[in-house]
Amino acid sequence: MTSPNAGIIGMGHAYPEGILTNADLEKMVDTNDEWITSRTGIKQRHKAADGEYTSQFAVKAASQALQRSKLSAEDIDIIICATTTPDQILPSTGALIQAQIGANNAAGMDIFAACSGFLYGLTMVESMIRTGQIKHALVIGAEVLTRYVDYTDRGTCVIFGDGAGAAVVGPVAEGKGILATKIRSDGRYEDQLFAPGGGTKLGTTHATIDNGDHFFKMRGNELFKVAVRSMAEVSAEMLAKAGYTVDDVDIVIPHQANQRITDAVASRLGVSEEKVYSNIAEHGNTSSASIPIAMDECIQSGRIKEGSLVLLTAFGGGVTWGGTVIRF
Ligand code: ACO
Repeated sequence: MTSPNAGIIGMGHAYPEGILTNADLEKMVDTNDEWITSRTGIKQRHKAADGEYTSQFAVKAASQALQRSKLSAEDIDIIICATTTPDQILPSTGALIQAQIGANNAAGMDIFAACSGFLYGLTMVESMIRTGQIKHALVIGAEVLTRYVDYTDRGTCVIFGDGAGAAVVGPVAEGKGILATKIRSDGRYEDQLFAPGGGTKLGTTHATIDNGDHFFKMRGNELFKVAVRSMAEVSAEMLAKAGYTVDDVDIVIPHQANQRITDAVASRLGVSEEKVYSNIAEHGNTSSASIPIAMDECIQSGRIKEGSLVLLTAFGGGVTWGGTVIRF
C-alpha cells in the first residue's frame, strides 16, 4: 500500500476590516502605546464588528485556499476548524463551514486546543492522509477572540485580535510535505489561561455574566515562561526527527503571541532573527488563526516558496503546544 506524504497545497486567510489600535485602547483602559509596543510588539489588531462571527472569516479563508489548491469543495474529505471561539456550541463550526462552502463529501468538526489548534489539526490529518483514510483535508484556524475579551482588563485586552487562516492538505511528492509533527498538552496549567463561565461546570447565569466569567483570564507572566520552554523544546525535537538543524530552516513561523516570546524562542533555538516571521504588530494574537495567517502571508510574499523548509511552533491555553516541520 502506498503511503503518501501529506503537504499543504493551497492556503488562504481573512480578517475583519475593523481595526483596534493601541491609541483606541488608551481611551478604554489604563495603558499606553509605549507599554503595549515594548511588552508585546503589537500596534493594532483586527476586531470583528457586532454581527460578524467566526465562520464568516473561516469560509473566506477556506474558499481562497480551495481556489489556490485548484480543488473543489467536493474534493474535501474532512474539515477541521480549530477554534476557541465557535459561532455557537452546537453545531460545530466545522459543520457550518462545510454547508457554506458546499463540501458535501466531508466530515466537519472542531478542535479546541487554543493557539495550538491549527497544528493539532495538521497533525491529525497528516496521519489520516498518510494511512489512506482520506485524500484531502481543510484545516482552518478561525477566531473572534475579541468577543471573549474583557475590555476593562488591561492584561488581556491589548493582546487579542480576530481572523482566520486555512490550508488545503493533501498528498504531495516524496520528500515534501509534513516531515515531522508533534502535539502536546498539560492540563495542570489550566489556570494560566481560561474562561470559567458558560460551560457545564459554571453554566451561564445572570451572576456569571455579571462576574464576567465568560471572559478570558490570563496569568500572562507565568504563561510566558512555559510558552518559551515548550516551543523551543518541541521545535528542536521535531527538527531532529526530520533530520535537520536550525541552520537548514528557511523560515520559522511561531504562534504570534508576543514579540518577546518569539524573540526568546528564537534565541533558545539559536536561529537568526531574519529567519523568524512576525506579523504581531498588525494582527496581535489571533490564537489558532495566527500560524495559518502568517504562513499564507509568507507564501503570498514569496518568503515561502517551492523547496522552503519551514518550522512551525505553537503554544496556547490548556496548556497546549506543538511543532511541525514542512518541506514545501
Ligand atoms: N498597560 C500598562 N500596564 C500593564 C498592562 C497594560 N496593558 N498590562 C499589565 N500591565 C502592568 C501590570 O499590571 C504590572 O504592573 P505592576 O508591576 O504594577 O503589578 C506590570 O504591567 C507587569 O505585568 P506583567 O504581567 O508582569 O507584564 P508582562 O511583561 O508579563 O507582559 C503579557 C504581560 C503581555 C500578557 C505577557 O505576559 C504575555 O504575553 N504573556 C503570554 C501570553 C500568551 O502567550 N498567551 C498564550 C497564548 S493565547 C491563547 O492560547 C488563546
